[in-house]
Amino acid sequence: MPTNREVYFSFIKENNKYLNRNVITSVLCACNNYVDNMTLYHHFDDECSNYNQLLECFERIKNGEPFQYVIEKAHFIDLVFYVNKYVLIPRQETEELVIGTKVMIDKMLPLKTLTIADVCTGSGVIGLYMKKLYPSAEVYLSDIDEKCLAVAKKNGEMHHLSVKYLQGDLLQPIIEKGIKLDVLVCNPPYIGSKETIDEQVWKYEPHKALLAEPKTKYYEEIFKVADQVMKPDSILAFEIGEDMEDEICALVEYYFPNSAYKLAKDMYGKLRFLYIMIKEDGNYA
Ligand SMILES: C[S@@+](CC[C@H](N)C(=O)[O-])C[C@H]1O[C@@H](n2cnc3c(N)ncnc32)[C@H](O)[C@@H]1O
Repeated sequence: MPTNREVYFSFIKENNKYLNRNVITSVLCACNNYVDNMTLYHHFDDECSNYNQLLECFERIKNGEPFQYVIEKAHFIDLVFYVNKYVLIPRQETEELVIGTKVMIDKMLPLKTLTIADVCTGSGVIGLYMKKLYPSAEVYLSDIDEKCLAVAKKNGEMHHLSVKYLQGDLLQPIIEKGIKLDVLVCNPPYIGSKETIDEQVWKYEPHKALLAEPKTKYYEEIFKVADQVMKPDSILAFEIGEDMEDEICALVEYYFPNSAYKLAKDMYGKLRFLYIMIKEDGNYA
């Protein structure tokens, strides 16, 4: 069997567009059952375990399959989550949504024991990370698709994060259970047309997680009934598409005429996040 070093350099030399350094080290870690790159480098001159499985993984990746589906793992902030073809692969912007939401919470709702919902949870990354950040919070993860909830549950168990899982359409299960929220975080489907979706994403990722017709559909459906679930002092946080500023602002101003809101940019300078602040005393200073 070749060593990890030999495998690493033989695939680097291939210069394949899908095989960069990060992908190759991730596959080597997964096939060797190493927890991280440090462990891989420590064992760089050891024989590669599961070499045949590793070759199969690289074949699938070279055919265009996202490496996270192949190794069934995706990084989110500093945690590794299980993923499969039923859930969207977590994106970097969504990490920023979680951090941005934490900043809003610590400013507006400090020292509160929070009730938080991650609606459209997919693999569960947002809600589970919120639970990690706020261990005393009651956290609900909801999705319309039971296959997504199965993945989210697996991730919750893997990270020993105790949250509650709800299946249903957007806020419906939260309304039915009479749950009142301090924080709602949501990354809904928001791509208006198949034509704007990258070919590899369309081929492999779940369409239910991507498409919305019109693109603001899920936001509006949530805004319409948000007053039934949000507490008098609360925060709604959303990831948004980079091309929906005007439409989303018009909707927020229509459905939340007495609340403050702000749009925030991602690390590339694109407007990708919406935060709505509801305050009982109306003081947004
Ligand atoms: C963009 S993905 C987000 C997944 C995950 N939160 C993330 O950020 O990686 C959207 C998710 O919304 C779910 N979804 C689609 N329509 C829904 C609906 N009507 N009610 C609840 N969830 C829905 C999909 O199953 C998918 O998991």
